[in-house]
Amino acid sequence: MSELTAVVHDAAEVVVGEGEAPLYCLEDAAVAVEDGHVVAVGPSDEIVREYPAENARHTVDATGRSVIPGFVDSHTHACFAGDRSDEFEAKLRGKTYQEIMAEGGGILRTVRATREASDDELLQNLLSHLDTMLSHGSTTVEVKSGYGLDTDTELRMLDAIRRADEQHPVDVVATFMGAHAVPDGRDTDDYVEEVVSEQLPAVETQGVAEFCDVFCEEGVFSVEQSRRVLEAGVEHGLTPKVHAEEFVHIGGARLAADLDAASADHLLQANDSDVDTLTESDVTPVFLPGTAFSLGEAYADARSFVDAGGQIAVATDFNPNCYSQSMPFAVALACVGMKLTPAEALVAGTEGGARALNRTGGLGTLREGAPADLVVLDAPSYRHIPYNFGVNPVSAVLKEGEVVHA
Ligand code: NIG
Ligand code: FE
Repeated sequence: MSELTAVVHDAAEVVVGEGEAPLYCLEDAAVAVEDGHVVAVGPSDEIVREYPAENARHTVDATGRSVIPGFVDSHTHACFAGDRSDEFEAKLRGKTYQEIMAEGGGILRTVRATREASDDELLQNLLSHLDTMLSHGSTTVEVKSGYGLDTDTELRMLDAIRRADEQHPVDVVATFMGAHAVPDGRDTDDYVEEVVSEQLPAVETQGVAEFCDVFCEEGVFSVEQSRRVLEAGVEHGLTPKVHAEEFVHIGGARLAADLDAASADHLLQANDSDVDTLTESDVTPVFLPGTAFSLGEAYADARSFVDAGGQIAVATDFNPNCYSQSMPFAVALACVGMKLTPAEALVAGTEGGARALNRTGGLGTLREGAPADLVVLDAPSYRHIPYNFGVNPVSAVLKEGEVVHA
């Protein structure tokens, strides 16, 4: 027998998902959840008649509040140790990301701290970031490895990601990113061979990672080196993702399309031809406005992708260089920095994120049959997410119909 898990009733509005307007949004609405999935969404009085609140394990009175799908944060590097807050200040004084990297800071500094951290420290750090993400409305989060850059530490990171997924209400999706940087003193081709012949087989045997990502960037991994890693990843059962056209345009977006990647991420330097290439492909362009914000750089041209009919995602890119776990803040930046409407930015942070993770079945929506990942906002409209910037708008979160944050 199916169980009535939750009824969220009398909401000022329920954002169901993408629609013509461009949002499919109902006023004076309710959501009923059975066995962790949305069974009905519609006018509150009708839903409550059919699914009496007193029969439900959880009842949420959402009077005056907006209910939206849980955020799907499709790009984070949330598993690491160490602190780089001093680099934030150095950047404000004019240092570039690349200069900091060249001085031994940046990714390689986090690699040193991560290698020294115990398994438990890595897990506890990740769990604490997931707590913050959940309290800001994220219910599915992708997390990349890539601060180990050796087989042992990469596997330890992926194991922390697996254990976090088991222990935390947030669904955690694992991406192997051994090709995140070149370890100190190593030749790049030589390291690529290590990733291909040693790390990837071990990652496949471990069985945690679902995606393989590469930092395809001038001075890091060339298009050819990235292709080598990602094609080997496919042979080991991992779906490609690409950090593409972040600082210098070198062809990472084209590569993502050639390899039928799940996503091409960053795209700060993407050009018109990339807009056409990605829009014609099944690759989801993922925009990370927090990175441009924290680096003080120009925002990506997400508008061109949307105007060309592309279905984009917005994510946090949470990492020591872009230290925000908040999807509401990413949505606000997507609006103000990239000129998306609040509806476009919200869809990009929910359904778009699910698309970037190749999730079907309604994740990122509140359509009938979708997983019942719901966020109740302390505001009457989703428009308050960017409008009331810098403030956490989340009042409660339900994961598969269970109240996991209130
Ligand atoms: O997506 N661009 C490469 N990787 C990360 C930054 C990682 C770091 O600086 O620790 C990013 O922004
Ligand atoms: Fe990244």
